[in-house]
Amino acid sequence: MGRLDGKVAIITGGARGMGEATSRRFVAEGAKVAIADVLEDRGQALAAELGDAARFWKLDVTSEDAWTRVVAEVEAAFGGIDVLVNNAGILLFKSILDTTKADYERVLGVNLVGEFLGVRSVAPGMIARGRGSIVNISSVDGMKGANSLVAYASSKWGVRGLTKVAAMELGHKGIRVNSVHPGGVDTVMSNHDGRARSDVDKAYDNVPLQRIGGPEEVAAASLFLASDDASYLNGAEIVVDGGMTVGTYYHGFPGAPGV
Ligand SMILES: NC(=O)c1ccc[n+]([C@@H]2O[C@H](COP(=O)([O-])OP(=O)(O)OC[C@H]3O[C@@H](n4cnc5c(N)ncnc54)[C@H](O)[C@@H]3O)[C@@H](O)[C@H]2O)c1
Repeated sequence: MGRLDGKVAIITGGARGMGEATSRRFVAEGAKVAIADVLEDRGQALAAELGDAARFWKLDVTSEDAWTRVVAEVEAAFGGIDVLVNNAGILLFKSILDTTKADYERVLGVNLVGEFLGVRSVAPGMIARGRGSIVNISSVDGMKGANSLVAYASSKWGVRGLTKVAAMELGHKGIRVNSVHPGGVDTVMSNHDGRARSDVDKAYDNVPLQRIGGPEEVAAASLFLASDDASYLNGAEIVVDGGMTVGTYYHGFPGAPGV
């Protein structure tokens, strides 16, 4: 028995990285999965590999019309939508002074407006059926500051706010809305030149677990929130960061790495 047997899920950015890992895990747990992404070839190939339980839909999350079309098509193909994982995102490293208005709006457009449109697009069907789970992928950068990430961190803090409001407005209609806050995770986004994980781990020696995370480890958190095991979680934040945000080491003192 799978933990998502009989459920229908849309996973944005589902063709690659964490979204791909989530698509794979959800299908393995019995869900029907709509892989929604702008990466057509990769999404089609993944859907073909996963079989009848998965289909690819081309979706640019910034387009309201595309959301309307995709939600209607997924409902027609698979039935009512039980789960939305708002995962699609982009990253931009620039100082505040170098970030243009267009840069800022582009990142907010995908990471925040895209997730807002996702919530608004699936909510009517979920309300009509009296149930649903929405998982909004934020970041540790939605919980703290980070130099060079003004647009990204703003968008991820916004996702946290969107989640709280949606949890309030939709919770009493049977829909749970929660956020996931990954730390460093080994995907194209944070390991764009595809270095070996053991190599990348060296950059994470300040993280208590002393390594980068795997996309499958974030998929496991989304699975929990999507499943009925999380039936009393609403407006919650699950931080999947190996302890990155819990504190700062006093190196050389007892309890620090290497001491
Ligand atoms: N990798 C990390 O270290 C990390 C850490 C914290 C949070 N996150 C977040 O996790 C999510 C997944 O990122 P990832 O690490 O898998 O990166 P990734 O770049 O491998 O995957 C992102 C996916 O989103 C898709 N996408 C981008 N713009 C889109 C759009 N307009 N419409 C539809 N799809 C679009 C891409 O095509 C890609 O498939 C993102 O929201 C990201 O901000 C990543």
